Amino acid sequence: MKSTNRPRPASPHSLARLLLRWYDRHRRDLPWRALPGKSPDPYAVWLSEIMLQQTTVATVGPYYRAFLARWPTLARLAAASQDEVLRAWAGLGYYGRARNFHRAAGEVMARLGGRIPCEEAELRRLPGIGAYTAAAVAAIAFGKRTTPVDGNVERVMARYFGVETKLPAAKPELRRLAQGLTPARRPGDYAQGVMDLGATICLPRNPRCGQCPWRRGCVARARGMTGSLPARLPKRPRPLRHGVVYWILAPDGAVLLRRRPENGLLGGLMEFPTTAWRAEPWSAGEARGLAPVAARWRELPGAVRHGFTHFELALTVLVGRARRRSERTGVWSPVDRLNDHALPTVMKKVARHAQEGGVSRRRSRP
Ligand code: ADE
Repeated sequence: MKSTNRPRPASPHSLARLLLRWYDRHRRDLPWRALPGKSPDPYAVWLSEIMLQQTTVATVGPYYRAFLARWPTLARLAAASQDEVLRAWAGLGYYGRARNFHRAAGEVMARLGGRIPCEEAELRRLPGIGAYTAAAVAAIAFGKRTTPVDGNVERVMARYFGVETKLPAAKPELRRLAQGLTPARRPGDYAQGVMDLGATICLPRNPRCGQCPWRRGCVARARGMTGSLPARLPKRPRPLRHGVVYWILAPDGAVLLRRRPENGLLGGLMEFPTTAWRAEPWSAGEARGLAPVAARWRELPGAVRHGFTHFELALTVLVGRARRRSERTGVWSPVDRLNDHALPTVMKKVARHAQEGGVSRRRSRP
């Protein structure tokens, strides 16, 4: 019989035991983790899991601390305005997370008497909570036997069990495998153990298999397949979109901002007035024709580039001086007070670009 070179996976019970033992020694010291033996604060766990979606642990740390210092309880957060919350989130991206978290805090206060639900199904009824976050909060904050499955966990499962089906088709199978390993004892630590394993040992490239508590039964390691698992369908390149942004200065040097519509990309955040973002570049005539105020325009050299999940954006910046500071057109802010506003990263890049062009300091007509 041909050898398949497939090691036998250890039992779920012994895998959980190995992982928890490893976690007790090597767990990352992260600000949202309760000390061993202490109960975690469900609000803090929920906040961390929302911030950690699509954002790295290193980026989240300072935002998480500042957010909790400002709104230490769910009740305090629910009483804040959406704009304040968006300002605290500015730079973290994916602002729908902040809007939903704030709305969900309001719902928990109004509908559930301030008690965060401990069951996944109930958690999922709240805005912004999907399968991953519901499982993470239920396991970590409330000790429920469930496993949140993110990209790290998928990678660990695909390698350990040698799953060759390509992602995303492999998702249900990887989820089933992950759920099947979840222990009844310390499921929250177990969930975070798998996350830490994916983040520090079972790395996408150059995994540190020699230090892995699961190295013995790992199919990918035995077959030399860690480099090719998890398998994925090739990613489609992100399309490029073009826009024009207007950097408009009032006679006193203030710059014009306006609020983006509530729904949609960067909803509720502030921006410098801009055209739509579309596949075709804008001609000089179109850009001038769509300007929100009358001015003589000067185009800054270069463009601001920013990557969103589904497209890449190239923004040309037009600089102009408004004759008056009309409040009808938007909100005027001194250039050195732009950080007081909920500006997304793409607009912070625009501000830097405009200022590096020297335009905000120059008093002479552009
Ligand atoms: N990524 C998402 N949630 C996490 C957590 N609780 N600990 C570490 N990394 C994470």
